[in-house]
Amino acid sequence: MTTVITPLGVKLGVVGKGGVGKTTIAGLLARAYAGRGSRVVAIDTDSNPNLGLSLGLSLEETEAVPVLPRSVIVGSGGGGPSARELIGEYGRATPAGPTLLSAIRVAEAGAGCTCSGHATVRNLLADALTDVEVTLVDMEAGLEHLSRSGGTLAYADVLLVVCEPTRKSILTASRTAALAAELGIAHVFAVGNKARSAADVAYFDEALAQEGIPLAGVLAYDEAVVDDDREGSVGLRPVTDDVERVVAEVLAVVEAAVGSGGNR
Ligand SMILES: Nc1ncnc2c1ncn2[C@@H]1O[C@H](COP(=O)(O)OP(=O)(O)O)[C@@H](O)[C@H]1O
Ligand SMILES: [Mg+2]
Repeated sequence: MTTVITPLGVKLGVVGKGGVGKTTIAGLLARAYAGRGSRVVAIDTDSNPNLGLSLGLSLEETEAVPVLPRSVIVGSGGGGPSARELIGEYGRATPAGPTLLSAIRVAEAGAGCTCSGHATVRNLLADALTDVEVTLVDMEAGLEHLSRSGGTLAYADVLLVVCEPTRKSILTASRTAALAAELGIAHVFAVGNKARSAADVAYFDEALAQEGIPLAGVLAYDEAVVDDDREGSVGLRPVTDDVERVVAEVLAVVEAAVGSGGNR
């Protein structure tokens, strides 16, 4: 296993088109960091929150995770709670190790926009998070929360854009990278997912090179992921050697990018 020494306070956002595998990959990365002894906070910003399942919680436990209060000003400046206090109050331990925070839940039709939940996450990431090694945000699909005004991930160090071998997901990656540049996020990498052939891997290489987005790793289409999903055992079983190797590659790329300092 590659040893990864993560700089204190690195903040990762996992983004991409709907259904590409953001939650699956966020779960794998969070598990891997926790497995290496890092204190990890994983934040679910999907209004249909599933990250808990990928970290080994049952559906009931996932749904029982308290939702962060909306529009919280975090940190001493505004007199609000610190990130540490919020994590202590709203975070839930998971079998996989990371502490899970749930930022958004739409419990009823017509409940309104989710912007105020995103504002809390933005403010949380802006706080120092000094006793957390890795904060990882599983983002809701869509680009609106990466806009310059109020972007949820404005304080992220690294964005990982998950892609399928489809033109549309590459297009989403390209738009995401452009918004990330506007937000001042220094490091954007793609993670290929659901590759079924060497041609899929070649497609990721070529299409992402054309967009100027470096590829951090490619995860194969894996029947075990599908089985785990159906059996409700996502996040509980050990990952295969192949998955472990790809995840290690991605973590090494992240480390190389932020090794000289996360925690802006
Ligand atoms: N590498 C993979 N191989 C097979 N199925 C996958 C893989 N990654 C994700 N999936 C499946 O694709 C679906 C969407 O994945 P998910 O992680 O929920 O995507 P997102 O969070 O981007 O919406 C899920 O049913 C998941 O089990
Ligand atoms: Mg998801």
